[in-house]
Amino acid sequence: MDGLVQGKVAVITGAGSGVGRAATLLFCEHGARVIAADIDGGNAEATAMMARDAGGECRAVTCNVADPASVEAAVTAAVAAFGRLDIIYNNAGITISPVPGKGLRSLVECDPEEMKRVEDVNINGVIYGCQAAIRQFEKQAREGAGSGGAIVSTASVAGLMGYGGVLYGATKGAVVQLTRALAIEVAGKGIRVNAVCPAGMLTHYAGMDPDSEHRGRILEGMGKAHPLGKPIDPADTAAAAMFLCSDLASNITGVNLPVDGGLAAGRKVGD
Ligand SMILES: NC(=O)c1ccc[n+]([C@@H]2O[C@H](COP(=O)([O-])OP(=O)(O)OC[C@H]3O[C@@H](n4cnc5c(N)ncnc54)[C@H](O)[C@@H]3O)[C@@H](O)[C@H]2O)c1
Repeated sequence: MDGLVQGKVAVITGAGSGVGRAATLLFCEHGARVIAADIDGGNAEATAMMARDAGGECRAVTCNVADPASVEAAVTAAVAAFGRLDIIYNNAGITISPVPGKGLRSLVECDPEEMKRVEDVNINGVIYGCQAAIRQFEKQAREGAGSGGAIVSTASVAGLMGYGGVLYGATKGAVVQLTRALAIEVAGKGIRVNAVCPAGMLTHYAGMDPDSEHRGRILEGMGKAHPLGKPIDPADTAAAAMFLCSDLASNITGVNLPVDGGLAAGRKVGD
């Protein structure tokens, strides 16, 4: 049986770790040819090697999503390596550093320079990815190389509800709204725009350590925060993103899909 994204060409950002690495491996397993893009070129290459070792087609590029030229270059690399672009997965994201020994930084404790960095990666990085992909999709359509394309971004459950860091949530809320508005703008061109909204996952995000000796206990705690009672795995988010990029989702656009064990759905009366 063909994979869910068989033969499609994808750029995945933030591919050197966590969700981006899981997505690169999953998309390749399902037949996509992938450019694994990350600001940490060594980690991107490590992901690409893992994908190739598993029989996939994958190349790594160093890419800073906060730099539009760098994102354009990642799309150009996809076209050079695999002839076209079908999918961009804008996954790279960062958050405000926690207060050592205390945890989440309140809004008034946030440093303006760091706020700008987070906004630049989480909002502008997604916008640059959308722009670069849409330009390439339009070029392919003009050249008779097939119309349309799929864009998916990693937002967060923090973009759907008040949850965790305020500044971070605001950037993810921007991605949620961008997803809706852009989906409408480009629907006539056959371009679909969706996002996945995960709850907490144990990755390198926010200085966490997925290899921590306390991994079991941390995951148990994360699971308890969700109605379904189990922690969200990066592969869960990758699977939702792949579904949204696949032809199974050919009539789905403008959707911000929670991957949160039911967290955003509400709570039981009395809880
Ligand atoms: N882990 C969580 O709890 C959680 C929850 C909700 C949403 N998210 C979102 O999921 C996405 C993936 O995060 P993760 O959990 O896999 O974290 P991670 O830190 O493990 O991976 C993020 C990757 O993005 C890369 N990156 C950072 N800045 C970049 C830039 N400017 N250009 C290109 N690459 C860059 C990093 O090098 C890293 O490889 C992010 O958008 C994050 O906001 C994470």
